[in-house]
Amino acid sequence: MCSMKGYVKIFTYGCQMNDLDSQKIYSELIERGWQPTDDTRLADLIILNTCTVRQKAHEKALSNIGRLRKNKLDKPNLKIVITGCVAQELGQHLFERMPHVDIILGTHQLHRLPDLVKNNSCTYPRVETAFIDYIHSMDIVTRREFLEHSHRAYINIMQGCNNYCAYCIVPYVRGPEISRPAERILCEVEHHARHDVKEIFLLGQNVNSFSGGMSFAELLHRIHSIEGIERIRFTTSHPKDMSTDLIECYATLPKLCSHLHLPFQAGSDKVLARMNRGYTRESYLELIDRLRKARPDMAFSTDAIVGFPDETPEEFQETLDLIRSVRFDVIYSFKYSPRPGTKASDFTDDVLLTEKKSRLRELQTLQNSITLENHRARLGTTYAVLVDGKSRRSAQQIYGRTTHNTIVNFTGDSSWVGQTVRVRITRANQNSLTGKIAQ
Ligand code: 5AD
Ligand code: SF4
Repeated sequence: MCSMKGYVKIFTYGCQMNDLDSQKIYSELIERGWQPTDDTRLADLIILNTCTVRQKAHEKALSNIGRLRKNKLDKPNLKIVITGCVAQELGQHLFERMPHVDIILGTHQLHRLPDLVKNNSCTYPRVETAFIDYIHSMDIVTRREFLEHSHRAYINIMQGCNNYCAYCIVPYVRGPEISRPAERILCEVEHHARHDVKEIFLLGQNVNSFSGGMSFAELLHRIHSIEGIERIRFTTSHPKDMSTDLIECYATLPKLCSHLHLPFQAGSDKVLARMNRGYTRESYLELIDRLRKARPDMAFSTDAIVGFPDETPEEFQETLDLIRSVRFDVIYSFKYSPRPGTKASDFTDDVLLTEKKSRLRELQTLQNSITLENHRARLGTTYAVLVDGKSRRSAQQIYGRTTHNTIVNFTGDSSWVGQTVRVRITRANQNSLTGKIAQ
């Protein structure tokens, strides 16, 4: 066992990919003798894993980094590391605004962190933001104590993006698409299966364009055949990369959950073309149809942007119309904000903020009513629920997720965590279901 190097605290913002990266950083540091702490004042090393996908996330990152200035004054030996997408985006420039930061670590450099924070092993300040061919951090296996639920493992299968949607900064901060070799992914899944993991959650910015030595559909088939694994999920997928083989998987692979996150972004062909999305409203709807034919109880979640440059009120109505047709379970909806370096940042951001706000409200009101109706349609049905943990609301209640990724609260024993039980739905709520054990 290594001797104690000090206390470390990581703050994570943004997507599930960032959550997993943070779990990996913790795992690597603990391996080398660091101890995690929730007490920021105790920490000898503070890491901020940042997001810059929208302007708001970016501003939040900068204000959080700024706030650490005081920690550094109180404890001059404290090392402050900024990683993630803001670190990649701003690089050296971040020091100019935030001189109290010690290390700026880009999205391809995470695996170097333990060496960089070893005592006196490098000079500060230091910036490492080069893109490298292989993302070493994809191979780091998270320590079991950092799996949020020990029965569910998140696994990186690819990183980066080649799509260059006009609004999106991701290709610039995560780099071009790189797939992890399939054999390494399968080894990791087998490792988790031996340790009682029931659900595999595959992660990447564009998982369905995976090319690590086999197609994404083939990878799903191979994972499906691993004993002990009961459920498979993945995110995020791009509509233009939904191959026929992948759609077929929903007909042939029962362990594949009946839920797909498939961002549509906008319902108007003109807006989709300006966004450079590579599909039309009609082809998106046809895709949803084909998926529902392959798996009739399929539930969908999605991302949508309102107020993209030049979006007219009529074009926005087409977004609402598409929402009414698909009847998503969940929509993550955002007001457009320009991101530096993207194609859309050259367009005039001409939809007024008040108009963006009102479109967002209208979209969310519509979606709330659809979500509730979808939940009500599940009343009286019995579902297999993989139990995640104790409910926060009541000591007797536990909760888990259906294949549709809907949370169900019900009375049960916390020793059932990690098991799949049958639950009959008795109440539909806005964000969850309530049920009764059916056995
Ligand atoms: N403005 C608003 N929303 C954006 N997204 C990505 N870039 C922007 C932007 N510039 C949204 C998209 C994407 C989600 C992760 O964030 O909907 O799918
Ligand atoms: Fe945010 Fe995108 Fe980076 Fe994830 S990949 S942290 S969503 S900017």
